[in-house]
Amino acid sequence: MRTVAPILAAGLYAAALLVLGHAQQAAPAGPAQPLPFSHKIHAGTLDLPCGTCHLNPDPGKQMHYPTTSVCLQCHKVIKKDSPAIQKLASIAQQDGKISWVPIYQLPSYVYFSHRAHSKAGARCLDCHGRVALHEVLFKEGDISMGGCIDCHMKTSASVDCQYCHEAIEP
Ligand code: HEC
Ligand code: HEC
Ligand code: HEC
Ligand code: HEC
Ligand code: HEC
Repeated sequence: MRTVAPILAAGLYAAALLVLGHAQQAAPAGPAQPLPFSHKIHAGTLDLPCGTCHLNPDPGKQMHYPTTSVCLQCHKVIKKDSPAIQKLASIAQQDGKISWVPIYQLPSYVYFSHRAHSKAGARCLDCHGRVALHEVLFKEGDISMGGCIDCHMKTSASVDCQYCHEAIEP
């Protein structure tokens, strides 16, 4: 029995390291944002619909990031003494635009429209992963050419080069 304990302890230690290693792999770091905004709180716990903060204005290619006015609907009162919310309030007094750091970005030679995909039945989840589970967002979804083509083949959408890339001028 005496020799078993240290071996067991070593085994548990190794198992703990494995678990830790996996935990780190499961949540790669996203870029630092100007405010510590959490999708896990807002889209997860509070269950706010994505559209509360992400509008899709005409012509519908891009999604909007929220401005301070959306946040202040709640944070005029909620946590108003926290340093992060005081920073939010001071940005609101300037121009209300928060300099969120983009995570998903396509090169300019790729044509993409959010609205066309929403109309075709694609969900946020299909391209951005399980946003509501994360404290800090990272690039979880696959927006490489392979990722796009994979789904286009599954949904019988076109895979012609010129569907996604403008014709190259001769
Ligand atoms: C209360 C407001 C709020 C709600 C609700 C919300 N978001 Fe966000 N979202 C933000 C803010 C603020 C950012 C920018 C900071 C960041 O990346 O976390 C952002 C960033 C993102 C990004 C990263 C875009 C990029 O490339 O920079 C994605 C993707 C996203 N949200 C998807 C979603 C989805 C899907 C939902 C619903 C499940 C959702 N959001 C709900 C406020 C919100
Ligand atoms: C529907 C109401 C609602 C909206 C809209 C909302 N929040 Fe929140 N927010 C909350 C609640 C509730 C909490 C959790 C407060 C707590 O921990 O007691 C929270 C927590 C936070 C925190 C953590 C504060 C701290 O110090 O613990 C930050 C930062 C934050 N929100 C930023 C934002 C930003 C930025 C926006 C706009 C993009 C936003 N929130 C929109 C309700 C909201
Ligand atoms: C078919 C894939 C796909 C779906 C579905 C999708 N997105 Fe995106 N999203 C992208 C791509 C690709 C980008 C990068 C666009 C670019 O750089 O032009 C992006 C960028 C964003 C951005 C950054 C602003 C922008 O438009 O560049 C936000 C915010 C965002 N998505 C939120 C959402 C939300 C919320 C939903 C669901 C309502 C959603 N997305 C559905 C692929 C998708
Ligand atoms: C979840 C599945 C899915 C993913 C992922 C996806 N698409 Fe699509 N896409 C579709 C469907 C479905 C249509 C509609 C096809 C139709 O109406 O015939 C479509 C249509 C399009 C169109 C034509 C619509 C328009 O605006 O004229 C383009 C361009 C396009 N996708 C580009 C992309 C690019 C670029 C990516 C990767 C960043 C991508 N798609 C990722 C499913 C997807
Ligand atoms: C469904 C959309 C879609 C289709 C169809 C498509 N592409 Fe792309 N392509 C993309 C996206 C998205 C990227 C950008 C990938 C990235 O950001 O790394 C890309 C990137 C590229 C690049 C640059 C690659 C690099 O490594 O720099 C080339 C070249 C290219 N595509 C050629 C083609 C050709 C040729 C076809 C037809 C056989 C085609 N594409 C069809 C979406 C598409």
